[in-house]
Amino acid sequence: MPHPSRHLLAIEGLEPPHIADLLDLAESYVLLNRSGKTQRDLLKGRTLINLFFEDSTRTRTSFELAGKRLGADVINMSVSTSSVNKGETLLDTASTLNAMQCDLLVVRHGQSGAPALLSQKVDAAVINAGDGTHEHPTQALLDALTIRRHKGRLEGLVVAICGDIAHSRVARSNIHLLTTMGSRVRIVGPPTLIPADAARLGVEVFHDMKAGLKDADVVMMLRLQRERMSGGLVPSAREFFRFYGLDAEKLAHAKPDSIVMHPGPMNRGVEIDSAIADHPTRSVIGEQVEMGVACRMAVLDVLARRLPRNR
Ligand code: NCD
Repeated sequence: MPHPSRHLLAIEGLEPPHIADLLDLAESYVLLNRSGKTQRDLLKGRTLINLFFEDSTRTRTSFELAGKRLGADVINMSVSTSSVNKGETLLDTASTLNAMQCDLLVVRHGQSGAPALLSQKVDAAVINAGDGTHEHPTQALLDALTIRRHKGRLEGLVVAICGDIAHSRVARSNIHLLTTMGSRVRIVGPPTLIPADAARLGVEVFHDMKAGLKDADVVMMLRLQRERMSGGLVPSAREFFRFYGLDAEKLAHAKPDSIVMHPGPMNRGVEIDSAIADHPTRSVIGEQVEMGVACRMAVLDVLARRLPRNR
């Protein structure tokens, strides 16, 4: 089924076949990447701009690598080097990028909805690389691909997403993707970190880790996003770890073959114990990064097919 839009702004609104097609294509890019080959003719002559108004390590570098492996000219713009610091508005930045005839624009911004606003003002295909507390669609795709590779399916799996759900765009995109694909999603965290609209999201809410992790197939841990919190929603990091940090004792309540995930950056000893983060068989955190490159290649590929040939 063809991708329904010229952009990728959110997972919400995608149907199961759109998601399955992206994951299948990403799977083929995993094989290509592992073989050491590239496919540099696909985006030859295309310009990809990474426009990051917020810090990023994994997401920015993996979009850069994905673009280069498909042959695009990749330009990284971060806020500290752009005119945004001199007071240029988001829309002025958009018209500058338009004049440069950028084909693919990857945007990360602190405000929810900023990539959607940009998408109305530029000719390029816009990919949301994380906007405020709203969505981070490529992260959900790479998480789903990682889960599918380990469990063979998404349907019917019990996935526990734990910690700071309220401020997490990763949680929101994962909830939309996994519920759309038939997983049973639980969110686990203190009441202060559970979003107000949890009931609408089709998830089960738990405030206790043991109950929330019971018989889970997948345990996904999230960082405390203090930069998005106003006021102290958590008493202290030490206390948070005691009740909500993933250690061997709490993980023992999940299925014996459950996998542990984290989008990074991790705060070891706050939401996850180092021994679990580095666990040789249960942790798939390193593999998530590898899947990130493949999923971003798939997204660039799908959106590039909809671009006009010459602009
Ligand atoms: C996440 C993000 O920026 O939303 N990181 C990522 O993309 N891997 C999660 C986070 O910042 O905690």
